[in-house]
This record gives sequence, C-alpha cells and structure tokens, in this order.
Amino acid sequence: MNIKAEGLNKNYYKKDSSGVNVLKNINLDITAGQKVALTGPSGAGKSTLIHILGLMDRPSSGKVYIDGIDCFAKNDKYLRNTRKESVGFVFQFHYLMPDFTVFENILIPVWKDKDLKLEQARELLKKAGLFHRKDHYPSELSGGEQQRAAVVRALINKPGVIFADEPTGNLDRRTGLEIESLLFAFAADIGATLVLVTHDESLAEKTDKIIRIADGRVLQA
Ligand SMILES: Nc1ncnc2c1ncn2[C@@H]1O[C@H](COP(=O)(O)OP(=O)(O)O)[C@@H](O)[C@H]1O
Ligand SMILES: [Mg+2]
Repeated sequence: MNIKAEGLNKNYYKKDSSGVNVLKNINLDITAGQKVALTGPSGAGKSTLIHILGLMDRPSSGKVYIDGIDCFAKNDKYLRNTRKESVGFVFQFHYLMPDFTVFENILIPVWKDKDLKLEQARELLKKAGLFHRKDHYPSELSGGEQQRAAVVRALINKPGVIFADEPTGNLDRRTGLEIESLLFAFAADIGATLVLVTHDESLAEKTDKIIRIADGRVLQA
C-alpha cells in the first residue's frame, strides 16, 4: 500500500489548556512494497506518528492518504475496517493474550472467520519456526518466540502495510536479528509495505529508505 502524509500535526492539551505539540507538519510518502526505517531519539514522536499512519489515532490536523484515499475524511467504521483488514502492527511488547494458546492468539484478529484461516495460520507458524509451539501458552515461550507469535498474528490478515514499533527493543541482539529477518521475509512474501521504528542504524541501512524524526519533525535527508 502507498502511504502519504500531508501536514500532520498532533497536539495534546492539558487541563490548564497548555499544549504539547508532538508532531509538527509531517509530510512523507511511502510507496507500496517499500521497506522504511523510522529513526530518531526517544520522545521524537515516532510512535505517535505510526499510530496515526496506522489509523489507530487521529491527527489534530493534516491528512493521511492510503492508496490515495483520504482516510480521516471517512467515518470511524471505515477507519476500523481498514485498520482491521489492511494494517498489521507489531509492538515492543508482544501483547499476546495469556489465557490463549499461540494458535488461538494468532487467530484472534480473524476470529469470526477463523475456520477459513486455519491452514494459513499453520503455514505462517511453520515459516516462523513456531509450529511445534502452537499449543503452548505465551508464558511458556521465550521472549523471541513470543515476539515471533506477535509477528505471525500481525500477518494473519495479509496486511498491505506492517508497522513495527521497536519490535526488537526487548530482545538480545541475536534474537532481535531473527525477528527482523522474519519481518523482512514476511513483508516481501505478501508484498506488504513495512514501516519499522528502530534505533539500530545497521538495521536501518538494510531498508529502502530511512526517515529521521527529531522533535516532531522529519529531518531532511
Ligand atoms: N497521550 C499523551 N499525552 C501527552 N503527551 C503525550 C501523549 N502521548 C505521547 N506524548 C508525548 O509525545 C511525545 C512523543 O512521544 P512518542 O510518539 O511516544 O515518541 P517516540 O516513540 O519517538 O519515543 C513525547 O514527548 C510524549 O511525552
Ligand atoms: Mg515510541
């Protein structure tokens, strides 16, 4: 999917009506299938930005076009459906549900149609090297395995875009590299756009494009 942002601003207001200006006139253009790294210091606005690009949050002003459609001009139902059908998210923490097995967890996003997705779920688990763990609970997995399960869950709908917010932040270097390769491989498999928030310059170098953010603005390359 193509993702374009035009003049995005995000302000948070406190009770005394003083404001924090977290995103300042962000413009960016990501083309379908691109692998993009989003880098910048902590507090720069990276998470806020991808939440808005992934339609999980609204900007205070500005537009997000996904495949040319001005998404925030649409109603909440449209946003919810687009998010569900076309967007995959991976966070620093896995957010797996503790009382569900790995197999159940990865089917949660498609629960209503899960019977149609069983084969695909097995296939993805095999590719992620997790098939033998499918009936285990999240607490029985290593950190790397939990994150692999979270990656598979994000992929179950074959999203047009995957956002990963410091997905290796809690992992050791070697395990982190495995998760990164998995994300790159899965994104390539389904032709998804990948937007990866990372502090790791060597990882950022492996992408097609690096977008650097500081203090709520995109730095010019
Ligand atoms: N709900 C909120 N209310 C007020 N300020 C917020 C809120 N969420 C984030 N911020 C502020 O926005 C800035 C950017 O945060 P964030 O997008 O999480 O940065 P990053 O992901 O780059 O570390 C930070 O200064 C943070 O304190
Ligand atoms: Mg963040």
